Amino acid sequence: MATPLVIDTDPGIDDALAILLALASPEVDLRLVTTVHGNVELAQTTDNALRVLHLAGRSDVPVAAGARDSLVYRQPERAGHVHGGTGLGGVRLEPSPAAPDPRPAVVALAEVLLAAEAPVTVAAIGPWTNVALLLATYPEAAERIGRLVLMGGSAARGGNVTAAAEFNVWADPEAAQRVLGSGVPAVLVGLDVTLPTVLDDDGIARFAAAGPVGEAAAAILQQYVDHARTSYGTSGVVLHDALALTEAIVPGTLGTVRRDVVVDTTLGAGRGQTLVDRRTVSDSPTAVEVAETVDSAAAVEFLVSRMAALTRSAG
Ligand code: RIB
Ligand code: CA
Repeated sequence: MATPLVIDTDPGIDDALAILLALASPEVDLRLVTTVHGNVELAQTTDNALRVLHLAGRSDVPVAAGARDSLVYRQPERAGHVHGGTGLGGVRLEPSPAAPDPRPAVVALAEVLLAAEAPVTVAAIGPWTNVALLLATYPEAAERIGRLVLMGGSAARGGNVTAAAEFNVWADPEAAQRVLGSGVPAVLVGLDVTLPTVLDDDGIARFAAAGPVGEAAAAILQQYVDHARTSYGTSGVVLHDALALTEAIVPGTLGTVRRDVVVDTTLGAGRGQTLVDRRTVSDSPTAVEVAETVDSAAAVEFLVSRMAALTRSAG
């Protein structure tokens, strides 16, 4: 039986690929997408999520909008310079015929969790504001989370939005601390495993040639490719969120170690840093499985082969 899945997301180019990867994977059953502030404003992340689902013929999947900003300190800086003005690399996908779900994200998420016939995997691939709000508002629903797959943070690779902090955690450090200290079974998929996992032009070409969905995904990625080339001089792209979804789809893809993790929630230069205690394997109930090793070639092949097989399903 397919595992019930919810994706909390801020599309976002790599978010878009992650959503499409989930739709291409029979191991999971995408029940709900919740949107959050992050790469671009909430209204845009919500519209982008609707359009990506429509691209794959899956407008049946509800999209519920969540937090417009972080919990404590406003964090207005977005990542349009990375993800393009629309958040999808400047690509204008066809508008979805579906409207956002009228429920706030936290309510929709709680209802899906409480109604699920099996433990639900929740993949949080934007700032974790919605997840923190769920924990505080509906703890009984949070108990129905089988696995929380968190894209964010870094154990030993520093940051990508500052020298210390990865974007999703930096965008709402207080939410990140609340989530990481919750005791919900969690896997932390951070820069340590995403940065080495690079999708190159050949991989993109393979799914670009496979059909309209792959072709649109390749077009969306072009902005990422250009940004990587001009900013880092590299010829490939890092799809952080797609690797997190790969772990959600195939548990154990990544090598993890149980670690204690705290977040720097001060207002200094380290704000948003994840401090991972790698001195010991933790037996604390609030420790998380930190992804520390990855077979990057296998992960890229998994993504490319699934994307190449993604045809627009009816509906
Ligand atoms: O640091 C990478 C994360 O920040 C990804 O989720 C990307 O989409 C951005 O949200
Ligand atoms: Ca994201």
